[in-house]
Amino acid sequence: MLQKPRGTRDFLPDEMEARRTIEWRMREVARRWGYREVCTPEFEDLELFTMRSGEGIIEEMYVFEDKGGRKLALRPEITASVIRMYINEAKVAPKPLRWCYFADCFRYERPQKGRYRQFWQFGVELIGADTALADAEVILLAAEMLNATGVTYELKVGHLSFMKNLLEDLEPSVQRRVMAHLDKKDFDGLKGTLESIHKPDLGNSLISLVECRDLAEAFEIAGTIPEKERIHQTINTLDAAGVDYTLNFGIARGLDYYTGMVFEGFAQNLGAENQILGGGAYRLAHLFGGDDVASCGFAIGFDRVMVSLGETQHKKDTVVAIVCTNEGRIHAREVARIFRAAGIRSEMDLMERGLGAQLAHASRTADFAIVIGRREAESGNVTLKNLHSGEQKTLDPESAIAEVGLHGAR
Ligand code: HAM
Repeated sequence: MLQKPRGTRDFLPDEMEARRTIEWRMREVARRWGYREVCTPEFEDLELFTMRSGEGIIEEMYVFEDKGGRKLALRPEITASVIRMYINEAKVAPKPLRWCYFADCFRYERPQKGRYRQFWQFGVELIGADTALADAEVILLAAEMLNATGVTYELKVGHLSFMKNLLEDLEPSVQRRVMAHLDKKDFDGLKGTLESIHKPDLGNSLISLVECRDLAEAFEIAGTIPEKERIHQTINTLDAAGVDYTLNFGIARGLDYYTGMVFEGFAQNLGAENQILGGGAYRLAHLFGGDDVASCGFAIGFDRVMVSLGETQHKKDTVVAIVCTNEGRIHAREVARIFRAAGIRSEMDLMERGLGAQLAHASRTADFAIVIGRREAESGNVTLKNLHSGEQKTLDPESAIAEVGLHGAR
């Protein structure tokens, strides 16, 4: 029997309904904040992703050559594509641009719980606003979106300038290595790297910075930081909005394009793969032939949010089975039509089963049965049976719709 590719998943209807419910909660928050949906290709020129991150990233991607010999990659994330699209299509549009997306990404990673090779991100990019207010808006939006899903999470906010200030004398490749150690809290690896470049003392400042949760103390550790005023303003805006977060100056972010404020969200019940949100301020446009526009954004790991929410969140559709005898069939079709027109999920027998067999099937698949025999066909009424309580009454179709609607609203 053929199986799906490693790291991918199939979604049955119950799961898809739950996913769509949560997706729409996120969409609704994005809409209210003025973020409009965009869509980019699922695959791009490989160069789009290697230009900033280097050839090393190829190991983590699905890379292929098309029949014309072009080197392409399935997108591992969507920010680079959105910025490429901005340069291609919307460079002259009034700023700032507020865009969002909900789309799948592909990473060639070792699959485990919460880590897949195909996964979905709900993300936003705010393009062309280089201010503390822009940084704060994106963080507040991320928090509101996660709150709307009902997931329990912890939000951590930091700024790269602290770490960069301490590392400014190091070569870029060493800086990157050090930041990777700090991101993973791998202090032994950090010490090893610093000893190899004869800077063992730097380790203490870096570790103090990573463990520091106080802004004034972070400024003391890292020295003079040009963005100081902007950082204060961002933090004050977050505090005024009452968002729940902790400061964390150890956030280095895996992707290489971040320049300033960075933030991450962690769910409590996911084990090792517990990061459900990542984002920050970045610059990418100049690499792709555009102006050096400042941007800020985030992506929520949609699948991880779903795993964290578990089964509890989803309110299922109310299902009505329209059950009829042969004499009732014409009336039953009309009843199904008006139930569907009223927005109620209504299913009719297709198997030419008898009334008893239809009811038995309904008891396994539906919440209500509408029973239509000769009596109902003659009177124009329906018999509504609640399949959970067994309660049964004869009503006109409109009253039956109201009764089913009440159940759905509960
Ligand atoms: P990222 O942190 O690489 O950032 O990914 C965002 C989120 O996607 C992660 O926090 C995680 O929840 C989820 N994720 C990543 N890899 C996997 C995987 N293999 N399986 C399941 N979920 C995964 C970005 O992608 C940036 N583009 C975010 C951004 C937007 N920055 C600015 N704008």
